[in-house]
Amino acid sequence: MTNPFSKRFAEIFEKDSRFIKSWLVAWDYQLGRNKRKLKYSEELPSDFYAFNGAGDLPKWMRWFMEKYTDYLPEELTKPLVDLSLENDKQIFQKLGLEFDFPNYRQNIGINNAHDYLLPTLYPVPERNRIRNVIDFGAGYGRQANLWTSKVKDGIFVGMDAIPNSYGLQNLYYKALGKPLYDYIDDPASFRIDPSKKGIYHLPTWRYDLLPDNTFDMVMCVQVLPELNSKLISTMMTQFHRALKPGGMVYIRDHASVWKPAGKMDVGAFLADNGFVLEFQPHLVLDGDIHGIPRIWRKIDPAVKASQVQTLELKKKQLVEDIDTLTGGRIKSVFKKLKK
Ligand SMILES: C[S@@+](CC[C@H](N)C(=O)[O-])C[C@H]1O[C@@H](n2cnc3c(N)ncnc32)[C@H](O)[C@@H]1O
Repeated sequence: MTNPFSKRFAEIFEKDSRFIKSWLVAWDYQLGRNKRKLKYSEELPSDFYAFNGAGDLPKWMRWFMEKYTDYLPEELTKPLVDLSLENDKQIFQKLGLEFDFPNYRQNIGINNAHDYLLPTLYPVPERNRIRNVIDFGAGYGRQANLWTSKVKDGIFVGMDAIPNSYGLQNLYYKALGKPLYDYIDDPASFRIDPSKKGIYHLPTWRYDLLPDNTFDMVMCVQVLPELNSKLISTMMTQFHRALKPGGMVYIRDHASVWKPAGKMDVGAFLADNGFVLEFQPHLVLDGDIHGIPRIWRKIDPAVKASQVQTLELKKKQLVEDIDTLTGGRIKSVFKKLKK
């Protein structure tokens, strides 16, 4: 029997055909693997274009089976890993699933902790504090675990286009027990309202429903290198619109080292389209931490303006330079003129 949510997703996909372009809903890396007739092992998901219900969740989570490297101090990561584990155990219980993840702390737990810690690692002005979040290419929905537990005064938006991932996200978000507004449940009345706290779930093809100047962070973890360039440039342009001035795009992936889907230089695109690179630690890829974390900020005009030397300041500097060269004569001439 087809899963009811999966059926509903297919119906809306059909109804929304005017919004849908093949490149917008493509997962190019997986399409390439299908063409090469590659298959994952049995305990991992096999068909990303079907969602079969709760049993698909442990399959997806088993993707995180390796033990991930970590250089961050345990006093920072441990409380987050504990919280993440507690939430996931409760989710599994609610869904009637057996929790069987012996290395949870070193794989899912540490990944969740890193993606909460890195964007919040250093102090920022209050206007840049992260409240409203978009998670683009959300996997089984794992970023909502810590972000919705830690941030109470914001909204969380999960975005995806792939039936299996989208179905899992709906399941995981619901099981987290926070208010959930899913476009697929009711497209006609779906509206993102930052004053109505909770989790919003939106398919990629309805990016037009992201409000302007609203978000503090867009997360793209292990996703951009797997997508085509047209999709990335379209979404980054939309995220620029949806972010507040000074809002961040947080990326963690293997950048140009592993880029199976596209030829795009995402960093060059962001630098040319209104973002500035604020944070990229000088670390050993996969030795210190998995992937390369980067924080790009949407340029805030007020910040930019404050750092430009005005004509007035330039003139003042010129007078001071001449005064220095002439051993203070300019100053004494001015003093005499004033008298
Ligand atoms: C490797 S997974 C990463 C998942 C997640 N960010 C994480 O770190 O756990 C790639 C994700 O990109 C999503 N994706 C693929 N094509 C997409 C598209 N066209 N629009 C949005 N998301 C897409 C997949 O469904 C999947 O959730």
